[in-house]
Order: sequence, then structure tokens, then C-alpha cells
Amino acid sequence: MSFSTLSRFYNLRLCPLFTQTPTFSSLFSSSSSSLPLTRGRASLAAKDSLSLATTDMVKAIRVHELGGPQVLKWEDVEIGEPKEGEVRVRNKAIGVNFIDVYFRKGVYKAASLPFTPGMEAVGVVTAVGSGLTGRQVGDVVAYAGHPMGSYAEEQILPANKVVPVPSSIDPTVAASIMLKGMTTQFLLQRCFKVEPGHTILVHAAAGGVGSLLCQWANALGATVIGTVSTKEKAAQAKEDGCHHIIFYKEEDFVARVNEITSGNGVEVVYDSVGKDTFEGSLACLKLRGYMVSFGQSSGTPDPVPLSLLAAKSLFLTRPTLMQYVVSRDELLEAAGEVFANVASSVLKVRVNHTYPLSDAAKAHEDLENRKTSGSVVLIPNSHSSV
Ligand SMILES: NC(=O)c1ccc[n+]([C@@H]2O[C@H](COP(=O)([O-])OP(=O)(O)OC[C@H]3O[C@@H](n4cnc5c(N)ncnc54)[C@H](OP(=O)(O)O)[C@@H]3O)[C@@H](O)[C@H]2O)c1
Repeated sequence: MSFSTLSRFYNLRLCPLFTQTPTFSSLFSSSSSSLPLTRGRASLAAKDSLSLATTDMVKAIRVHELGGPQVLKWEDVEIGEPKEGEVRVRNKAIGVNFIDVYFRKGVYKAASLPFTPGMEAVGVVTAVGSGLTGRQVGDVVAYAGHPMGSYAEEQILPANKVVPVPSSIDPTVAASIMLKGMTTQFLLQRCFKVEPGHTILVHAAAGGVGSLLCQWANALGATVIGTVSTKEKAAQAKEDGCHHIIFYKEEDFVARVNEITSGNGVEVVYDSVGKDTFEGSLACLKLRGYMVSFGQSSGTPDPVPLSLLAAKSLFLTRPTLMQYVVSRDELLEAAGEVFANVASSVLKVRVNHTYPLSDAAKAHEDLENRKTSGSVVLIPNSHSSV
């Protein structure tokens, strides 16, 4: 289903969300009739009208050396004022993603040390750089992706990376769904297009992205097979629309997929687990099937000889969200589709774990030890004053 078809569909069903924004695209219009706000005007507005006073020093998590969760330190940092094209945002809720673990450990390299991790947050605009239209002090906005640095009470962001959050969606819910939801959108709609009648395999089906993949794929009419590690996670995955559950720590998931599909295999595997599942995932595919390897929670998969793909003329891709939301239009389309699916209850967001921002280390520990399901969110300690 194309985005325009979806938007027409949702516009019919989402009246409360769109009372002031009759068309879906206007919700995210990048040009606005509001006057340009200079930094001075924004600060004035913040202090006089909206009382969103800012200070130079804020609390943030910083990483000085790579390693375990203990390297996440709670410190004072100076963030300054937004420059041209930037906004300053006071975070209300911060999404935790497995990619934050990769950066903390050095699997992915941060540009420099020390750094503040985090690639997803929702907050209130407290100041606007010069020359900007369409962004105002007091706006509730969300972002996911670059720049890194969301584990902070406030941060500076490029204005073209933030999107407005519909007032009907709670900031904590929005922070649980931006990065994971847009990932789900591109995986199911663009990387490989899931259609009614397809059978798909989703690893870590009760995880943050996994939960959304199961719900959305089910709504698209696919038969969903999900792998999980525990009975509790199995119950959640079932509720999320998984038709078949496999306990991949105990069962041979390749044999089970064979059994479930009567030896035919699946059209696509969404594999975020990596090392432990990669080869088995290839074996689960039908002829000309798609292997979408989009993560490595268990470690980086071993290199694959091309001949492994030749056996069934398979397609293999290793996509990342950042390369699917390159343009502003792509970002707005992805975010819009995610928010619409939340508002229409196609997606039920599972905010299963919240931690104070200062306890980010505990959140990482639980995520890495497979103790979490659904989304994990950090709440800034100063949140109550926003
Ligand atoms: N390419 C992209 O653009 C993109 C974007 C977003 C996320 N991702 C990837 O998607 C995956 C899911 O991210 P998420 O933030 O939603 O995390 P998550 O799925 O909530 O957490 C990871 C899950 O992976 C499973 N897992 C299997 N083996 C594991 C191991 N050895 N160590 C830890 N976990 C293991 C666990 O589920 P069980 O207990 O059920 O096994 C665990 O709960 C990550 O690999 C992430 O990098 C990729």
C-alpha cells in the first residue's frame, strides 16, 4: 500500500489527530506560515511567554572510554545556543536502542571521545537558531538517527532532522517508536515489500523492533513466524500477531521453519541477531528469497561466500535506517506513517521499561542481557520541570 493510500485511509479514521491538520502531509509540512524566529526572539519567547528558561550546563551521559555499561557516566556538559539552522531541545523521553550498545562498546566507532550516546528522543524546543521558519519555541519534536547525543537533558539538533509529534501521542510513546518504528517501516515497505500471502521470519520477535515488525507485518496480511528466548516473550509476540513462535535457544529454528512452511521456506527473513542466526536464516529462505540482515545483537556474522547465495539465487542486504531517511521527504514520510499507525492502533507501542536518564547503565545492562522486551526509554531526571 502506497503512502498516499495509507494517508487517505488514516485521514478517514484519525479525526482527533487531524483536527487542525486536515491532510496527513500538512502535519509535517517543512514550510510554515510562522515568522522566522531569530535566536534572540526565541530566547525572549522562551523566557517571557513560555518560561522555557535554559542554562548553559545540563546533565548528560558521557562515554570517556569504550567498554561495559559502567563506562556510561553522569556528568555536567555545556551545550550552548543553537546556530543557524539548529534548534535546542529539552528532552522529555529518550529511546534506548541496541545501536547505543554498539557505540559504547566500539563495535561502531564514535567520531571522538568523550561522546554522549543516544540516537532518539522527544522533547520541547527551547530555542531556535537564526533564519529558521516552521520551528517554534514550545514545539514538541522528535528525532531519530544522527547526530548522536540524545542521552542528555537538552541537546542541539539540526532543525531539518526533527519532526513534530502529534499532540495525541504521548512523548514517551513517541520516543519508543521513532527509530524502531521508522526501521520497521523501511524494512517492511521498502527493503523488501511484504504483501498478503507472504510468510516471513522475524528473529527476536519480542524486542523493540521485533514487536513492531510482527504487528505491522500481520496488519499487511503476512504469516509471521517469530523467534524468542522465553515464554513471557512468546506470549507478547503472540499478542503482537505472530502466528508461529519458535524458542530458538532450545529448538532448531531451521527445522521448525521447514515444518511450518511444509518445506517451502519463507519469502524474507528479518535477522537482527546476527552471528548466532545468520547461516540458519539463509537456510530458511525459499528460492529467490530475501535475507535482510539488519543487526547483530549476538555479534557480527561470519563472512559469507557468494556461492552460499547461489544455491537458491538468494538476495542479501545489510540496510541501515539512516540510508532510508536521507531526504527530508523520506524522513517525513517514514515518521508520518509510523505516527499514523500508532494513532490508528495498527501499532501498540510497548513501553515495557523506563529508567531515569542517570541510570542509563542499568538500561544497557538489561538490554544486553536479553532481560527487556518491547521498548526501553530513559526519562530525564529534570523532566518534571519541563
Ligand atoms: N539496521 C538498522 O537500521 C537498525 C535500526 C534499528 C535496530 N537495528 C537492530 O535491530 C536489533 C534490535 O534492536 P532493538 O533496539 O529493538 O533491541 P531488542 O530487539 O529489544 O533487543 C535485542 C534482542 O535480541 C535478542 N538477542 C538474541 N541474541 C542476543 C544476544 N546474544 N545478546 C543480546 N540480545 C540477543 C534478544 O531477544 P530474545 O531474548 O528473544 O532472544 C534481545 O532482547 C539490533 O540488532 C539493532 O542493532 C537495526
